[in-house]
Amino acid sequence: MAERNILITGGAGFIGSHVVRLFVGRYPSYRIVNLDKLTYAGNPANLADVERCPNYTFVKGDICDMESVCDLLLRYEIDGIVHLAAESHVDRSITDPFAFARTNVMGTLSLLEAARRQWDGRYDGKLFHHISTDEVYGTLGPDDTPFSETTAYDPHSPYSASKASSDHFVRAYHDTFGMPTVITNCSNNYGPYQFPEKLIPLCINNILHRRAIPVYGSGDNVRDWLYVEDHARAIDTVFHRGCPGESYNIGGGCERRNIEMVKGIIETVDRLTGKAPGTSLDLITYVADRKGHDLRYAINASKLADELGWRPKVSLDEGLERTVRWYLDNRAWTDSVTSGEYMRYYEAMYGGR
Ligand code: NAD
Ligand code: DAU
Repeated sequence: MAERNILITGGAGFIGSHVVRLFVGRYPSYRIVNLDKLTYAGNPANLADVERCPNYTFVKGDICDMESVCDLLLRYEIDGIVHLAAESHVDRSITDPFAFARTNVMGTLSLLEAARRQWDGRYDGKLFHHISTDEVYGTLGPDDTPFSETTAYDPHSPYSASKASSDHFVRAYHDTFGMPTVITNCSNNYGPYQFPEKLIPLCINNILHRRAIPVYGSGDNVRDWLYVEDHARAIDTVFHRGCPGESYNIGGGCERRNIEMVKGIIETVDRLTGKAPGTSLDLITYVADRKGHDLRYAINASKLADELGWRPKVSLDEGLERTVRWYLDNRAWTDSVTSGEYMRYYEAMYGGR
């Protein structure tokens, strides 16, 4: 019998696959059940190295299907949930907000309600860990202090509004029903297996294909970057040692303007592919800004550092190097996820550039 039975939702996506890999490897006495609908962003190949592990089980399914989730919680005697499944891309939320309300809001509510019914007030040893984002806090000016856990929510995109709403439901289940919950709000992740709709892998892929690199607006928007394996470690830390009812910010302490990031990626790709420095700078193309584009995100992660001892380990230089190397070594992965639906999306977003 397993020591614990953990449900990870969205485990076939970018961050989820790193969390599954970490939990399966570090906790051989746990059974890890990955529930994923396998949308365009979910890919079983992200977990090819894990799929045969005896403590790992994959279940294809939708978090919005509450009856099936109830059956799954019962069948696997789930006592902990790490909830990552979501629609995650801001640009897609601008073209199809309903998809975000459905999965991020209703899906989270259906998961909470399934857990409430299944756990039925027997909350000892149980935990619902909700993975959220710094975008719920809105946007910062250049000199504002970074977001803390007490910053008021002020989301601007349909994506961040849906994540903020899901956070409120999680807190409501804690406050109303006494369900042990924790929320983590993390900054921008990057690393292997990130779908090439997001800035960094899109940039790498476009350099490799000599396609234009679309920089929104002036390129002066600032993000706080965190290597994905550091995020997975933070989730492990909070899941095991976080205080129920609390939320924790997670960040890289590594703010960069988008244009600086793009130039850093170009430098790394050109160097690792043996091109002369600056070869791909001509691909930088300023395009129309994203609607409602938040200017700056920055995270104060001192609560997590002071109370639970987590700090990022991978510097931006090291993380970018590892990331670019991974995409160079795994071009078949990128080719497979950029065929079909991706190209239709890309054409609609960026036209023939
Ligand atoms: P992703 O888009 O790469 O993966 C999402 C996964 O969820 C996919 O495997 C998809 O198939 C699955 N999924 C989507 N809808 C589902 C449904 N209805 N039922 C079951 N599975 C479903 O996302 P990501 O970037 O890995 O983000 C994971 C989580 O982390 C999200 O909740 C996101 O809001 C949050 N987050 C992401 C970042 C980031 O920088 N990427 C930062 C902070 C927080
Ligand atoms: O902050 C955490 C969030 O980070 C997560 O909650 C989201 O799930 C995740 O997608 C990410 O959101 P962003 O919108 O910040 O990430 P994205 O990679 O889409 O964009 C990063 C920045 O780069 C942003 O300011 C928009 C800009 N950008 C993006 C793309 C795709 C461009 O300039 N050009 C592009 O083509």
